Amino acid sequence: MKKVNIGIIGGGLMGKEAASAFGRWFALNDFPVQVALTAVCDLNPEVLSWYEAVPSVELITTDYKELLAHPSVDVVYVALPHNLHQKYYLEVLEAGKDLLGEKPFGIDLQAALEIKEAADRLGRFVRCSSEMPFLPGPQRVIEEVISGRLGQIIEIKAGFLHSSDLDPNKPINWKRQTQFCGEIGVMGDLGMHVLHVPLRLGWKPKRLYAQLQKIITERPDGKGGRAVCDTWNNAILNTQVEIGAEEVPMTLEMKRIAPGETNTWYIEVLGTKGGVKYSTKDTKALWTFSCEKEQLWQRTDLGFKGMPFSTITGGIFEPGFPDCFMQMLAAYVAERAGVLNDRFGCVMPQEAVDSHYVFNAALKSFAKHTVENVYYHQNQTV
Ligand SMILES: NC(=O)c1ccc[n+]([C@@H]2O[C@H](COP(=O)([O-])OP(=O)(O)OC[C@H]3O[C@@H](n4cnc5c(N)ncnc54)[C@H](O)[C@@H]3O)[C@@H](O)[C@H]2O)c1
Repeated sequence: MKKVNIGIIGGGLMGKEAASAFGRWFALNDFPVQVALTAVCDLNPEVLSWYEAVPSVELITTDYKELLAHPSVDVVYVALPHNLHQKYYLEVLEAGKDLLGEKPFGIDLQAALEIKEAADRLGRFVRCSSEMPFLPGPQRVIEEVISGRLGQIIEIKAGFLHSSDLDPNKPINWKRQTQFCGEIGVMGDLGMHVLHVPLRLGWKPKRLYAQLQKIITERPDGKGGRAVCDTWNNAILNTQVEIGAEEVPMTLEMKRIAPGETNTWYIEVLGTKGGVKYSTKDTKALWTFSCEKEQLWQRTDLGFKGMPFSTITGGIFEPGFPDCFMQMLAAYVAERAGVLNDRFGCVMPQEAVDSHYVFNAALKSFAKHTVENVYYHQNQTV
C-alpha cells in the first residue's frame, strides 16, 4: 500500500485537528493510501510538546526549514496566521513538497495569485482547506442541484456564522488584527467555506453589493491593557450569479458576531420545482422541498453512510466537525494519488483565487457603497 508522510507547519488549533484525523486513519475502510504524521513545526514550545504524544512523529522543531529538508516528508499542511501564508506556502512548494494550505490561501488577492502561479510552475499538488462540504448534508445538496430536480433555480443562500467574538472581554488574538488576518477580515476567515460549494457548482458572483461591519473595535490585550480590533466582524454579500440564461440572486453571509451561532455552516437552494437546504445547526437533517398537491418541506435524517469515504462508524451515527475534517484530508490524499474518482474534491487553487476576487470586489463595494462587477482577472484591484 502507498504511504504518504505528512508534515505540519503551525501546530495550533487546526494543526492538532489534522493530527487527530491522521492518527485515526485506520477508521477509513479500504482506503488505498496510508498516512503518517512525521514532522511538526511551531514556534511555541507548549504547542510542540502536545505532539510528543503522537507516536508517528519523528521530528518536532521550531525551524520550518528543518521540516522542509526532512527527506521523508511528502506533503505539508500549513496552518499559520494569514500574513504568513504566502511566504510559507511558496517555500513548501520550492522545497519540492505538495501542499494543503489553510484558507484564505494568502492574506490577499496578490498573495493568492502568487501561490497559484508557483503551484502551477512547479507542478505541485496543491489544495486549500474547507471541510464542511464533506458532510453528508452538503453532499446531498450538491446531488440535488446536479440532478436538475430543482427546476429553474430561483435563489441561493449560503453562510457561515460564529459567535466567537460576541464576548467583548475575550482577549484579542491575531484573527482580530488586519496586519495578521488581512484587510478582508471575516471574509478571509469564513468566506472560502461559504464559496466552496457555489464555486464548484459554477456559481461565480458576477456582481455584488457588500455590507461589512466592525462591531467590537477594542478588546483586552491580554496584558492588562486594551488593543484595537480593526478587522471586519461581519459581512453580507448580495451577489448575482448566472445560471443558464438566468441571473440569480445569491446571498453570502460570513459572521463572527452572530448571536446564538457557534459554528453554523448552511446552504439553501430554491428552484421552481424543488428546493434543498442543510445547516450544521441540525447536523443530520436534510430538507427537501416538493410541490405537488401541497407544498412540502420534508426532513431526511442522514448519517455516516452519506460520507464520501466509508469508515468503520455505523451508517446511522451522526458525523461532526472532526469527521468532516478527516473526510477532507482523505479527499486530498485520494485526489493526490489519483483515486478520488467521482467524489467531491478539496478547494482548488483557482477557486481560492476566485474567492479573493469576490472579497476584493466586496471591499470596493463597501468603500464606495456601489454595486461592483467581479472581474476574475489580475487587473482587478481594490
Ligand atoms: N478549516 C477550518 O475550519 C479552520 C478553522 C480555524 C482556522 N483555520 C485556518 O487555519 C490557519 C491557522 O489558524 P489556527 O486557528 O490554527 O491558528 P492558531 O493561532 O491556533 O495556530 C497557529 C499556530 O501557528 C504557530 N506559528 C505562528 N507563527 C509561526 C511561524 N512563523 N512558524 C511556525 N509556527 C508559527 C503559532 O504558535 C500557533 O500554534 C489560518 O489560516 C486559519 O484561517 C481554518
